[in-house]
Amino acid sequence: MGLVAITRRLPDVAVDLLRAAGHDVRLHETDMPPSREELLRLVAGADAIVSLLSDAIDVDVLDAAGPRLRVVANYAVGLDNVDLDACRSRGVAVAHTPGVLDEATADLAWTLLLAVARRAVEAHRLVASGRWTGWAPLQLLGTELHGRRFGVVGLGRIGTAAARRARGFGMEVVYHARSRHERAEAELPARKVPLDELLATSDVVSLHCPLTDATRHLIDARALGLMKASAILVNTARGEVVDEQALVDALGAGRIAGAGLDVFEREPHVHPHLPALPNVVMAPHLGSATVATRDAMARLVADGVIGVLAGREPENLAVVPGAAGDAAGDATDEAAGTDGPSRSP
Ligand code: DGY
Repeated sequence: MGLVAITRRLPDVAVDLLRAAGHDVRLHETDMPPSREELLRLVAGADAIVSLLSDAIDVDVLDAAGPRLRVVANYAVGLDNVDLDACRSRGVAVAHTPGVLDEATADLAWTLLLAVARRAVEAHRLVASGRWTGWAPLQLLGTELHGRRFGVVGLGRIGTAAARRARGFGMEVVYHARSRHERAEAELPARKVPLDELLATSDVVSLHCPLTDATRHLIDARALGLMKASAILVNTARGEVVDEQALVDALGAGRIAGAGLDVFEREPHVHPHLPALPNVVMAPHLGSATVATRDAMARLVADGVIGVLAGREPENLAVVPGAAGDAAGDATDEAAGTDGPSRSP
């Protein structure tokens, strides 16, 4: 049976399943990320690594694990922290957690959107401070979402779940993605538009694309400049999809109305000017943070490890060793629910 290195404390079910399958577990047993040295020590001699999105699983980590390593299972749907090519060339499988966090992440996107649109954090602070003097016609007026346009960047599973909620709020949905999603177009309904048109005409721009070379800083000063001054940006995808400095400048200058941010360019650090902006609501990367979803993710990574170490090909593999064309491209786009857009429309 194998040795499984786990880089952080996870819901118990992960370790329970791995031990029940006969594997030994070596756990970095805190809620803090391992330092680079701790990570390299932790993985030494492992047959499997269960990693988090904050662990860079690169050539050095794969080298430190050594020749026994057969699978990296990432406790996330996004795989931007894993060097997929390096895994592929070493015959190491890569598993992740598609399909189980779509609803939770879409809920969080809407939590942030509603909080920005209806100024929920400012409202809470006013009441909690004891400075509220009573109902007033012009107090903390927000933005009405009903009847407005919801622009989805990346219409995979999560983007579609967020768009369904938009329809529930009586919003029109447009999207931009690399490929057409005819089923979602009919179901929602939604219309595919060029990225620039989405940016220029949407009242809400919600990001649901994976972080790739094509999407890094997709939302830069130019893109923000195209958005309506009344528009709200929501990012529950990856921080690096947005140029954080450009966003701070745009928010500060009133070039867009507000932003709901669950992710940041240099997590856990946030741009020093973001917290002071009244039109920003922030969360510490909580998209998938419900008890049920984190449990489902734990089961999925355990199943991925157990399957690969038993010589099977579990469904949640993004890199299948030996496969001519594995699922990595699809996994970070369609299967991951984060179908990424191309830069050009
Ligand atoms: C992911 O899965 O990629 C999220 O960012 C964390 O759940």
